[in-house]
Amino acid sequence: MKYRQLGASDLRVSEISLGSWLTYGVGVERDKAEACLDRAFEVGINFIDTANVYGRGAAESVLGDLLAGRPRDSYVLATKVFGQMSDTDQGLSAAQITKQIDASLKRLRVDHVDLYQCHRYDVNTPLEETMEALTKVVQQGKARWIGFSEWSPAQIQAAIDMPGVTPFVSSQPQYSLLWRRPEAKVIPLCAAHGISQIVWSPIAQGVLSGKYLPGAPVPEGTRAASDSMGQPIRGWMRPEVLEAVQKLKPLARQAGCSLTQFALAWVLREPNVASAIIGASRPDQVDENAAASGLAIDPELFRQAEALTVGLERASG
Ligand SMILES: NC(=O)c1ccc[n+]([C@@H]2O[C@H](COP(=O)([O-])OP(=O)(O)OC[C@H]3O[C@@H](n4cnc5c(N)ncnc54)[C@H](OP(=O)(O)O)[C@@H]3O)[C@@H](O)[C@H]2O)c1
Repeated sequence: MKYRQLGASDLRVSEISLGSWLTYGVGVERDKAEACLDRAFEVGINFIDTANVYGRGAAESVLGDLLAGRPRDSYVLATKVFGQMSDTDQGLSAAQITKQIDASLKRLRVDHVDLYQCHRYDVNTPLEETMEALTKVVQQGKARWIGFSEWSPAQIQAAIDMPGVTPFVSSQPQYSLLWRRPEAKVIPLCAAHGISQIVWSPIAQGVLSGKYLPGAPVPEGTRAASDSMGQPIRGWMRPEVLEAVQKLKPLARQAGCSLTQFALAWVLREPNVASAIIGASRPDQVDENAAASGLAIDPELFRQAEALTVGLERASG
């Protein structure tokens, strides 16, 4: 496993990190979650991503349970705030941030997280209020660094320009061969200001593994076949997407790796990406995906892959 610096922070994060959206505490049983997390540590993953809203606290609780026996300095822990936690709890007001960080720390059974991220931008709260509240969380030692997820370039710029507040070090956008929007503005802006990308759904929720064949029934035991996890992937289950993905398989073969590894290595070719956050429902997926770190793939194969997937962005999770 290789490691990269997270923006202007002092954190070194594994190029492949493990997330918990839809999986731990929700669609993947506890014993499998434990097996995935154990395997992740075995293969050198040190970076775990979650959010208060994943399973409305359930993902954080499972992680808190599973991480409890490990030395706190042996992993980098990231969570998020913004999502709806009850009829009255949502957003990035000072009151919410103050309340939600404590609730997250309690569920995660730690006294601090390494990275506290705004899950989305809150149009109902002045940015200054949010940034001041986040700064206080850092000053109190409850979070070491802060980040955001899916903010627009203008929103990012406004935070960068704000004086006297803790600066952001990470951006969490969707990014994959099927979703390249961050390249135009978000990545250059962040790269110029000490902010790294930690990217979500780097294999488009499993679609870029090539296991979903066009015109064939969805394989059992997959996210697309799952009642509890299957909704967000639907936007990718279009024939033109699945056909294009099959055409990538010979490129991965030429590169000497699996298609999943090829897709992860493609994301990691971008130096501003510090880590690709994978989801995993089984430990063998952790093994396969972690091995994408450090692969040296001919850039010409990546160019061919980009040509085959251009224009497929549309609905997504
Ligand atoms: N900030 C945000 O708004 C946001 C949004 C979404 C996600 N995230 C973060 O990003 C993380 C990753 O998102 P994601 O789960 O969509 O990522 P992903 O890595 O693109 O997809 C993960 C899913 O793909 C399948 N898979 C994984 N490895 C595979 C392999 N080698 N071969 C075949 N199938 C494989 C598994 O599902 P099955 O085995 O069930 O098919 C797995 O759960 C989340 O856990 C979360 O932490 C953040």
